Amino acid sequence: MAHATHTDGELDLEPLKRILERDFRYDTHQDAEELILGACQEAQNLYGWVPQPAAQVIADHLGVSVNRVYSLLTFYADFRTEPPGKHFLLLCHGTACYVMGSQRLIATLRDEYGITNGEVTRDGELTLQVVNGCLGVCDLAPVIQVDHHTYCGRLTPDRLRETLEALKRGEPLEERNETD
Ligand code: FES
Repeated sequence: MAHATHTDGELDLEPLKRILERDFRYDTHQDAEELILGACQEAQNLYGWVPQPAAQVIADHLGVSVNRVYSLLTFYADFRTEPPGKHFLLLCHGTACYVMGSQRLIATLRDEYGITNGEVTRDGELTLQVVNGCLGVCDLAPVIQVDHHTYCGRLTPDRLRETLEALKRGEPLEERNETD
């Protein structure tokens, strides 16, 4: 998805301000409070995450403190307060995947890539999300879904490393997917 940044990569806050002016009007402080989540969602749609200047614009528009905006942003796991990595990893930690060793994959990502649930690697390449619900492909357990579409299954720590390094090199993952 294209996000609202200037060509030099600087954040363009004007689209957010226009949306807030147009769609986020209120009469009372209570009304404004109820609009915070929706305004944050608009910012995330525009930028792919909610940068601090956008949170400040929302706070200023709604007449609430930026701390109040952040308290909601950090309460709801769907919001991002740091830029997403280039690639998105959804690691299944449901029952079948747990039994087949998803914990070892989580440990590998933590110890070797420095990320736990919701975090982005230092190089900005990978975002990790861990789900406790089943992804519906238990025959591939333990499994990760990459970039919302490709399942890489029956992973060991070694195969996970290989998969991630291939991803970083820009190699197509389909060849590494044992479902194919
Ligand atoms: S428990 Fe992981 S895919 Fe079903």
